[in-house]
Amino acid sequence: MTAKKDQMKKIAAEKAVSYLKSNSIIGLGTGSTVYFALELISKLIADNKLVNIKGIPSSKATEELAVKFNIPLTSLDENPFIDINIDGADEVDSDLYLIKGGGGALLKEKIIAQASKTNIIMVDESKLSNFLGERFYLPVEVFPFAIGSETEFIKKLGMNPKIRIKNNSAFITDQGNYIIDIHCGKIQNVKELSDILHSRAGIAEHGLFIDLTNILVIGKESGAEIKFNKNI
Ligand code: A5P
Repeated sequence: MTAKKDQMKKIAAEKAVSYLKSNSIIGLGTGSTVYFALELISKLIADNKLVNIKGIPSSKATEELAVKFNIPLTSLDENPFIDINIDGADEVDSDLYLIKGGGGALLKEKIIAQASKTNIIMVDESKLSNFLGERFYLPVEVFPFAIGSETEFIKKLGMNPKIRIKNNSAFITDQGNYIIDIHCGKIQNVKELSDILHSRAGIAEHGLFIDLTNILVIGKESGAEIKFNKNI
């Protein structure tokens, strides 16, 4: 199954990378699908088919990979406008709203997405769903000081918060925060939940990405399917 999924991720990555152009600033997301995209970008650079590009990584993990793959990097300070961003997602609905953050990089991923003229999201077809939350939990990044109170707040909303654990201790994000994975089931009103979570000072950011996907690339066994977002 994983080999099959990886194949579909590769198909999506290949199509997404075909949108990249020389002389541009590129947002580099995080995750296993992005890994395949970085491999392809590296090859295009080595073959002189992609020249004068600079990437802005969304995580330490992606930064390390980009360095390994000889992809030139820059920062958001030096280049506050990103031409095109490529990233994965954990779940996608028919409005092209996303759940992201399975890798814990949602905060920088959202900052990069908001700074990008075009956002391309690459998924294998298992990530598609009718209602966000039906396949994946919702990650939120929480300041350590607020972990207790935000956990209780989420419980009061009737949802099930779980502090993310890695190697027997709390997972720490690149920013030094915690992740609460909210097991919420189908989210009936994505915008409303986004507003509620944004109203909390202890929540740095949540993994709902609304109106931040211009192009969705779906990797399928039969090839790549493209969906353009007509609403943004
Ligand atoms: C990272 O925090 C996430 O938002 C990833 O983009 C998402 O989890 C997709 O990852 P995969 O490509 O590994 O499925």
